[in-house]
Amino acid sequence: MAFAPAASTSRPFAINTSIGSSFSEPRVCIAKLTASTFQGCRLVFEKEAMDPRSFTRTDLHLRVSASSAVLEGMPFTACGDMAVVNVDLGDRSYPIYIGSALLDKPELLQRHIKGQKVLVVTNTRVAPLYLDKVIEGIKGKGGDLIVESVILPDGEKYKDMETLMKIFDKAIETRMDRKCTFVALGGGVIGDMCGFAAASFLRGVNFIQVPTTVMAQVDSSVGGKTGVNHPLGKNLIGAFYQPQCVLVDTDTLNTLPDRELASGIAEVIKYGLIRDAPFFEWQEKNMESLLARDAGALAYAIKRSCENKAEVVSLDEKEGGLRATLNFGHTFGHAIETGLGYGEWLHGEAVAAGTAMAADMCVRLGWIDRTLQSRILNLLERSKLPTAPPRHLTTEMFKSIMSLDKKVADGKLKMILLKGPLGNCVFTADFDPKALEATLAAFCEK
Ligand SMILES: NC(=O)c1ccc[n+]([C@@H]2O[C@H](COP(=O)([O-])OP(=O)(O)OC[C@H]3O[C@@H](n4cnc5c(N)ncnc54)[C@H](O)[C@@H]3O)[C@@H](O)[C@H]2O)c1
Ligand SMILES: [Zn+2]
Repeated sequence: MAFAPAASTSRPFAINTSIGSSFSEPRVCIAKLTASTFQGCRLVFEKEAMDPRSFTRTDLHLRVSASSAVLEGMPFTACGDMAVVNVDLGDRSYPIYIGSALLDKPELLQRHIKGQKVLVVTNTRVAPLYLDKVIEGIKGKGGDLIVESVILPDGEKYKDMETLMKIFDKAIETRMDRKCTFVALGGGVIGDMCGFAAASFLRGVNFIQVPTTVMAQVDSSVGGKTGVNHPLGKNLIGAFYQPQCVLVDTDTLNTLPDRELASGIAEVIKYGLIRDAPFFEWQEKNMESLLARDAGALAYAIKRSCENKAEVVSLDEKEGGLRATLNFGHTFGHAIETGLGYGEWLHGEAVAAGTAMAADMCVRLGWIDRTLQSRILNLLERSKLPTAPPRHLTTEMFKSIMSLDKKVADGKLKMILLKGPLGNCVFTADFDPKALEATLAAFCEK
């Protein structure tokens, strides 16, 4: 379906589009338009004649008006090429732009830059790939904009207070002020650290996420959780801090190693399991396309993941309950990461093994059936992800690390567990601890 943009880009504006023969039912076409391309917009029929029920021919005239600031000033061609998912948080709402070659559309970034000073935070791996492009893009805004950058060492083991200080050092040396903007360019480690730095520098400065891994594009860049690790536990020090926007250029995934790609897919699988059965089924049909980096499959998976995350975050920003479900597989997963030492296994790999352990526990509790467990294991295996922790991690190690988990309340560990048909989960401390013991015994040597 091709979009022919109208000359005017003011709001509301009209577009012309044609319905391909595959859309014999106009309602379907309209639903697809709404869901995929005009997220955050309201579609209005221009004339009575455009009532979808009377619709039989090819030309459809739709009137589109933006229901938020998402599309403001955006040329329609740009919108047609990308999806916009809105994270609805009242006056802290923000758009996630998802599409190919978005780094070549610098106006997207520029419109969210506040103040005259920008600090781009990235690492030694990503800087040679994309830093120049991002700096040039931001500078294109013109005026007296000063764009600085800080290049951190690469890796989860540097997600700590010492490395965080390097961001503050640079910000202070370059006299970043209260109105400046911090831009995170990289994977989840950079996003989490830059976000925490933005939350605390001068008690909070503007912040933009440019995520470049699947993990960051489907999960960590969305929702405002920021922070660093402590030697005794992952992400124990941090803040909730929402960005001004998230810009996902799917082309950046072309340079991502296969192992990192698979790691991010662990979180994609998670969304299907906890709340989106049709998405899980879609993955069962399309996993090989995703792993082969089919652009359409990747864009769809990222968009659907962001929609799921945005919805959960909108309903429960500060993790009163619902948001905790996004940590399915993570209680075991974090214990694996901490037990092994950060960086040994990738986050998504630990989450995948944690997902397999949680599924095992749910079967023992009688909360899911074995068929669902097999489907989960099968999808993880097809994604080239681990389905068990390293054998040398002991039951005692798991128990002691899990007792430090952030989800321990009043001395009781709360866990996210699947319960019922695919797509359902609970966050509860009310489970038989023997099931947990049995799962640990099954996966650990001693
Ligand atoms: N804040 C949240 O809500 C949230 C959610 C999930 C995960 N996380 C955090 O995210 C982190 C994991 O994120 P990650 O998996 O992105 O790891 P990462 O940031 O370490 O990135 C993985 C590797 O890929 C490299 N890289 C990044 N983009 C690249 C590109 N386009 N091409 C080539 N190489 C590239 C990185 O430099 C790194 O070596 C963990 O610290 C985890 O705790 C946070
Ligand atoms: Zn995760």
